[in-house]
Amino acid sequence: MASDSSTGWPFWAATGDDRIGEALRLAGLRPGERFVDLGCGDGRVLLRAAEDFGAEVHGFELDPGLAAIARDVLAAAGIDGTVVEDDFEAVPIEADVVFAFLSPATLQRLRPRLEALPPHARIVTTGYPVPGWLPNNLGDRTYLYRLPPDEQPVDRNQRGWVSFGALVSVTPAAPALVAVKVQTDGGPLTVSVSGAGLDGWLTTRTGADEAAPGEPVVVDLRFEPAREGTEASGTLEVDSAGKFRLFAVADAGDPGIFGLSESGCDLVADAMARGRLAPVLNEARRRTSSG
Ligand SMILES: C[S@@+](CC[C@H](N)C(=O)[O-])C[C@H]1O[C@@H](n2cnc3c(N)ncnc32)[C@H](O)[C@@H]1O
Repeated sequence: MASDSSTGWPFWAATGDDRIGEALRLAGLRPGERFVDLGCGDGRVLLRAAEDFGAEVHGFELDPGLAAIARDVLAAAGIDGTVVEDDFEAVPIEADVVFAFLSPATLQRLRPRLEALPPHARIVTTGYPVPGWLPNNLGDRTYLYRLPPDEQPVDRNQRGWVSFGALVSVTPAAPALVAVKVQTDGGPLTVSVSGAGLDGWLTTRTGADEAAPGEPVVVDLRFEPAREGTEASGTLEVDSAGKFRLFAVADAGDPGIFGLSESGCDLVADAMARGRLAPVLNEARRRTSSG
């Protein structure tokens, strides 16, 4: 798991205007409330929270360039908020409303600290839900949680990966993120990646360094930008959960992750070996869109 220590995992992407408005409305943000954006990027969410909802705004951002932009954005609008250039995992979180557009593994790592917020606090995420929590309200890829959070039921007797394997289609020329879930016998969690083509293309991050037996842990899969048509296959392996077979392609169609059974993995491996992956990917997309 390598990530550049000067920038946040997995990479910067901005929440769109409509989604910001929806998230802040879902959270029921009120004037004077303390609003914290964990990983505030260029400050656009802080700006809306202050200007449209009258909140007291605070952002944390690891990337120095983005933190400077966010500060300038607030100053230019005459907003008296703060933007701290720091790792939010290393600072106390004090908030009435926490906003986060972060990866599944990062959200899972934040869970204990979010649970420790006062009972009136709300957490609103965009892009990805908090793994293991059931949202109290939903928008378009926007998730609201009240404390204490409702937890998703878990079968702690289950072991292994969410499926036998997966086919992942990523947009070429842009970084991409998907996530998978694993349940182990417990203990330290390390993911080994094998597969020559995945080396340098794929980086992983787990939602916990250590897990209890049967506790679901998400694993972020981050793909670097790649030339259209790039294909690779390999495995992810975690002790006591076995191997997860992974097939990845950079393709201009809709990005997605498609879970595979053992025979599905064999079919995809065969199609890849014969240079015939496109029809298999199209079929996976068709099945997903038709439910
Ligand atoms: C997907 S962007 C979201 C930006 C902004 N919140 C928005 O919604 O437009 C996530 C941001 O979190 C930052 N980030 C990730 N991990 C961080 C950490 N541990 N501490 C501080 N910032 C972090 C990244 O640098 C990136 O700017």
